[in-house]
Amino acid sequence: MKIETIAIQAGRNPSKEIGAVMPPIHLTSTFIRGNDNDYVYSRVGNPNRDALESCMTQLEGGADSIAFGSGMAAVASVFQSLGKGDHVILPDDTYFGVRHLVAAILRRWGLDHTMVDMADLDAVKAAVKPNTRLIWAETPSNPMLKITDIAAVADIAQNSGAMFGVDGTWATPLLQLCLSLGADYVVHSTTKYLGGHSDLLGGVVVAKEKEGFTEAIREMQSFGGAVPSGFDCWLLLRGIRTLPYRMRGHCENAKQVAQFFAEHPKVDTVYYPGLENHPGHDVAKRQMSDFGGMLSVQVKGGADAAAAFASGTDIFTQATSLGGVESLIEHRAPVEGEDTQTPWDLLRISVGLEHSDDLIADLAQALDKI
Ligand SMILES: Cc1ncc(COP(=O)(O)O)c(C=O)c1O
Repeated sequence: MKIETIAIQAGRNPSKEIGAVMPPIHLTSTFIRGNDNDYVYSRVGNPNRDALESCMTQLEGGADSIAFGSGMAAVASVFQSLGKGDHVILPDDTYFGVRHLVAAILRRWGLDHTMVDMADLDAVKAAVKPNTRLIWAETPSNPMLKITDIAAVADIAQNSGAMFGVDGTWATPLLQLCLSLGADYVVHSTTKYLGGHSDLLGGVVVAKEKEGFTEAIREMQSFGGAVPSGFDCWLLLRGIRTLPYRMRGHCENAKQVAQFFAEHPKVDTVYYPGLENHPGHDVAKRQMSDFGGMLSVQVKGGADAAAAFASGTDIFTQATSLGGVESLIEHRAPVEGEDTQTPWDLLRISVGLEHSDDLIADLAQALDKI
């Protein structure tokens, strides 16, 4: 089945009893003993969560999916399923929340880590230790849009006996199928494109195999308890129905916005993998079906100019997050804090589905003011 069909049909299960074409929302914490589906308690299982997980498994071509209450909860479940003394390799520009989780929090729990430039495959190989259990990639990365060669890192992981997980939030399964490229796990913050409307928080881990380490992640879901509500699962599934068509619009608009920035005299650097001069362009072209709706730019004039640009837009809302139908702009470094790796003149832009002429006119007038 093609992805457009899966996105609409998977996990729908129209009820014969009621006849509703769309599924009901099961807002219940608990279930009567002896029910036909063996549901017991919504932290352990809920029909809306099952429907969402089934849809995600089919979208990614995986064996199992485990849904969480946020993208960070999904990422954390993978790392928390490792043991004390295990070693993980992470990208040096990973999403700052993941960096903090591993470098500050899980370090206290005895998880060892090394951060490397994932585009440098020799550096990845050199970072492998006898206790390396997981290699983690994020592609495209947040907010520098670095591209990791998924198949090449999967080879390194396999040769070193480590598992390989990819945060594919920015690409979505529409643009990049990480499991078929060799990853063991793909994680999404479903808060972003999968939800698509900036009205929920969610995360999901999709696994290549149902057994083994995946069971530990499932255990983390039940006992860690960072689960999404039935309503959020329902809302997310509703968002996923239009994902393929929304992603096409995001990609088309982002291409035009990237081209506009590339030619603008007040813009120093544009980070968009669809541009031929992007260092990851060739790999992105090979492993993605299109280049996505996210881009970052460094403007001339430093942090003050960047802040003025972000405050000067009318259609682009100055806010954190990404992947909704509405366009967002964010001066990124101040959000990440003093120890940020992000340049202080960088703006992260989530190109929405408004008309590209209006988006470009808005960016042009805001740049004129700085
Ligand atoms: C690549 C990536 N991974 C994970 C997350 C965390 O997701 P959430 O905010 O849903 O916890 C984000 C959030 O921006 C992200 O961009």
